[in-house]
Amino acid sequence: MRSAPFTLLLSAFLCAAGCSDSGDGNGDETTGSGGATGGTTSGGTTSGSGGGATTGSGAGATTGSGAGATTGSGDPTSATSGATSGSGGGATTGSGTGGEGTGGSDGTGGGASARVPAASASTLREAGEKANPPLLIGAAISGGGLGNNDYKRVASTEHNYVTAENEMKWDSLEPSAGNFSWGSADNIVNWARQNNMKVKGHTLVWHSQLPNWMSSMTGKANVEAAMRRHITQVMGHFKDRLDHWDVVNEAVQTDSDTGVGNPRMRPTVFYNQIGQNYIDLAFQIAREQDPKAKLYYNDYSIDARNDKVEFVYNMIKGMVDRGVPIDGVGFQMHIGPPNNEATGADVAANFKRFTDLGLEVLISEMDINRCGGVVTADEQLAYYHDIVAACFKEPKCTAITFWGINDGRSWLNSWSGALCNGQSSQSLLFNDQYGKKETYNRVMNALLGK
Ligand code: XIL
Repeated sequence: MRSAPFTLLLSAFLCAAGCSDSGDGNGDETTGSGGATGGTTSGGTTSGSGGGATTGSGAGATTGSGAGATTGSGDPTSATSGATSGSGGGATTGSGTGGEGTGGSDGTGGGASARVPAASASTLREAGEKANPPLLIGAAISGGGLGNNDYKRVASTEHNYVTAENEMKWDSLEPSAGNFSWGSADNIVNWARQNNMKVKGHTLVWHSQLPNWMSSMTGKANVEAAMRRHITQVMGHFKDRLDHWDVVNEAVQTDSDTGVGNPRMRPTVFYNQIGQNYIDLAFQIAREQDPKAKLYYNDYSIDARNDKVEFVYNMIKGMVDRGVPIDGVGFQMHIGPPNNEATGADVAANFKRFTDLGLEVLISEMDINRCGGVVTADEQLAYYHDIVAACFKEPKCTAITFWGINDGRSWLNSWSGALCNGQSSQSLLFNDQYGKKETYNRVMNALLGK
C-alpha cells in the first residue's frame, strides 16, 4: 500500500521535524565463466580508479568465483596478474576458476557488474562473506541488548558489521562542551571487534540527539570550531578501530517524512550558522583525520523515487563535482510509517544514479514497519526480498544494516510517528524469542541470488 494519502498526512503531521530524529564493465570478460578480469585475487582491489585488465589475456581471476573490484575501483598497480594500466575491466558474472580472461579491453569504470552469490550459507553473515564481491551484513546494536545472551549470539553469528544504535551520537559522546564520554561506545566497539565485526561510526554531524549547548550555539566561528572539535576528537578516539563513518546524517527535509513536498536543507544549527558549506566542511575535516576511512552521507526516505532523493542526488553530485571527499551514500531504508515505501525497482534505480557518480551505496538502517496496517504482511516480505536483492545485485552496494535484531527491541515500537503505540512493529528478521521469521528467509534468499 504505497503512498497512501493517509500515511502522507499522518507522517507530515506527526513528524514534521524529521521523524528520523529520529570499466563500466566494458572490460567484460569474453571467455565465459573463468574469465573474470578484475579478480579480487588477482586484479582489482578496493580503491583507486582502475582495476581491471585492459588487454590482458592473463587477466583472469585465479581462484575466482566471480571477481572484480569491490567498488569498481581497483588499483592497477597492486594487481598481481591483472593488467597494470587498466581503467576498466570489471568481471561480469564469472564464477569459474582461473580462466583465461581474454577480454577486459577498454573499460572506463572498473568494477564487477554483478555480484556472485555463495553456493550456500547457514547465516546471513556467511552469505555476505562468501559473496563475491563480499557484502557486509550489519545490525544496529544497543548497549542494553549486549546484556542479553540470545541477543549477543544472534547479533554476532548473523552479522559482521555494527552500528551503535545511540551510543556514538553527539549527546552520548560529548554531553557537555569539550567533555567526552567514551565508555558506552567503547563497550560496543570492543564487543564488535572481539567478534570480528567491523563498526561504522554513527554519526558525526546530525541535528538530532544533539545536546542543547550545541543546538543553541550561535556564531559561525563558534559552530564551526565546535563541529571541528567534535569530528576531530571522535575520529581520533576510534581511529585504530573504525574506518567507516556516517559524517553527515539527515541534512535534508521535505514536508512529509515520506520524502514528498518542498525538499530543502534542514535548518539545523550547522546550516543556520555556517551555511550550506557545512556539509563539505564536515567531510573535509573527517578526511583530514583519516585519509583512508570510508566517509558517508546518510538519510531516510531517499529510497523511493520522490522529491527528497532528487534533492539529495543534486546535493551529492555537487559535492562530487567540487571534489569533496565523500565515498558513499547510506539509504536508511526505514520502510513504512512514518517514512517512505519503496520497491526493489525504485531502490535499484536510485542506487544506479549514485553509483554512476562513482560512489558506494549502502542500506544503512533497514526495517519495515507493520504498525497501522499500512504495510501488509505480504508486502513486507516482498519488500524485504526485493530491496535486499537490489543491493545484492549492485556490486557497489557494500553493506546492508538492519536497524536492530529482534522485533521486541525495535525503536519503532515506541517512536511517535510509527503508529505502534507500544505494540510490536514486527519490523525485523527475528521475533521476540530470537527465532528466525519469514522475513529472515526472504533476506537469505536474496543474499543467495534466489
Ligand atoms: C534511533 C534509535 O534507534 C532510537 O533508539 C533513538 O531513540 C532515536 O534514534 N535515523 C537514524 C538513527 O539515523 O540514528 C535513528 O536511531 C533512527 C533514524
